[in-house]
Amino acid sequence: MASGQLLRAEALACSGCRHACHVMLYSDTKTQLFGRIPIRHIVLMQMRFDGLLGFPGGLVDPLEETLEAGLSRELSEELGLALPIVVEDHVESRYAPASSPSSPSSSSSRLITHFYVKMMEEEQIREVERVAASTATDHGQEVLGMVRVPLYTMKGGGGLASFLSHSFIGNARSQLVDSLLRFNLVASGDLHKALTHSLKIHAHAVDDLRAALALTEVQKKQL
Ligand code: APR
Ligand code: MG
Repeated sequence: MASGQLLRAEALACSGCRHACHVMLYSDTKTQLFGRIPIRHIVLMQMRFDGLLGFPGGLVDPLEETLEAGLSRELSEELGLALPIVVEDHVESRYAPASSPSSPSSSSSRLITHFYVKMMEEEQIREVERVAASTATDHGQEVLGMVRVPLYTMKGGGGLASFLSHSFIGNARSQLVDSLLRFNLVASGDLHKALTHSLKIHAHAVDDLRAALALTEVQKKQL
């Protein structure tokens, strides 16, 4: 087992721990962007209330419900549909990384994240997107919107590299990359190139942020 990973049973045996369950929903698709770039797979993530990208799901108390029933309950709030999640959809459990400036922790008890992956039919995924934006109770509040992950790379490098350079909650970026490899959704060489390019985009974003910050300094002086 990779370092930091826990067996499901080990994770459940931790009495003082909090548990969070999240799922990556995906389907195959024959759709092409601009009629020429194969999209191949629809992979769903969400823009969270805290401005970070993450997967649908949330906190579950294993003393009150199974991890899978809790995840299904969270999905009904965030997506508007109680999708059935089974133990076979479980991919990994691990301790969440220490909190970062963009996601400070409000509790001292350790958080264990349980990650699931569920393949669906394309029409079911489209239904999830429709319902999530129309009837889900969390829409516009805890969930600002569902997003698809672009898995292709365009001529100028746009696509997956740009997506991966955004900010993610906890270890959601690693969960995404691991799942893309594990379920053969992107070739490892393409993923390696995309991540290398993401680092360059990230360096450019720092300059961009400094320029934006300078704008606020000018405003402050004028006031
Ligand atoms: N990796 C690591 N930690 C994660 C990940 C991830 N991929 N995704 C989410 N988390 C963390 C969050 O930072 C949070 O602390 O797991 C915890 C629960 O996940 P959420 O989806 O944010 O929880 P949810 O039950 O949907 O509730 C939303 O309401 O009570 C508040 O602040 C609380 O974040 C919580 C929010
Ligand atoms: Mg949530």
